[in-house]
Amino acid sequence: MPELERAPKLDQALAEVAAEMAEREDRGAVASYIPQLGKVDPRKFGIAAVTNDGRVLTAGDADQPFSIQSISKVFTLTLALGNVGDALWKRVGREPSGNPFNSIVQLEHENGIPRNPFINAGAIVISDILLAGHQPREAIGEILRFIQFLADDETIIIDREVAASERATGYRNFALANYMKSFGNLHHASELALGVYFHHCAIAMSCRQLAMAGRFLANGGKNPATGHSVVSAERARRIGAMMLTCGHYDGSGDFAFRVGIPGKSGVGGGILGIVPGVASLAVWSPGLNANGNSKLGSIALEKLARMMNWSIFAP
Ligand code: DON
Repeated sequence: MPELERAPKLDQALAEVAAEMAEREDRGAVASYIPQLGKVDPRKFGIAAVTNDGRVLTAGDADQPFSIQSISKVFTLTLALGNVGDALWKRVGREPSGNPFNSIVQLEHENGIPRNPFINAGAIVISDILLAGHQPREAIGEILRFIQFLADDETIIIDREVAASERATGYRNFALANYMKSFGNLHHASELALGVYFHHCAIAMSCRQLAMAGRFLANGGKNPATGHSVVSAERARRIGAMMLTCGHYDGSGDFAFRVGIPGKSGVGGGILGIVPGVASLAVWSPGLNANGNSKLGSIALEKLARMMNWSIFAP
């Protein structure tokens, strides 16, 4: 693995990227449609890398928790695939949407089957799948415990104020859920599926915790520290493929073009990036670009991937 040759450079590369991002004035706009997220300081920047050979390297505000929002959809997809297997794909597609994360337009043409599990509609169906046989509180607890287990960190919590803030203003998500319910693609009451959805989006994690939680995806489905399997190697590859093609919504093509690794963004300004066989990465900068993805987070990952020759398309 060429990673060993590159190893001495990674901490230096992270420090360099963090220093350069600290200087940037144009940092994008913090999401304000969820009022609680609008309160976050746009000058924050953190980055963390957890390598398959066990190093945890960070720079900037890498230990400050932020709202992971849509990044949680990687973990709920993983959990739901574990519960129902490939039957999941009868209710959610696997194609990039080419539309914003909260768009409703395709749902009518496609009979209430969301394009993919990362747009809001798809993630609400995944929440509905995770509700099967559970009260909402139990489903939310299962998701939180799974993430704590992946990150090996029981201090990770749900920010209830963010969840309440989103519920109070989540008119579009209520519309998406009710619309899918009308097609029979929600098996529980819309409010219950949305309760699960709002709470998993409101999980707060630091870059360090997030990069730890993503380790299994960089290591063929196994936790690199213990060797224990979280998912099969095939499933890890497929989740990575979904991240690459759909993880940044209508900005997915641009992220693949510029960064060249599977990634999943959230409107809290975080991005989880996976370098298969090498490392799990997390970056956080709250200001967003026009597609609702972290502006400096994308630029930082582009720089880091170039410095480390990490594109999955690199020979
Ligand atoms: O449903 C929402 O709008 C948010 N809870 C999550 C959206 C999100 O993170 C999109 N990502 N860039």
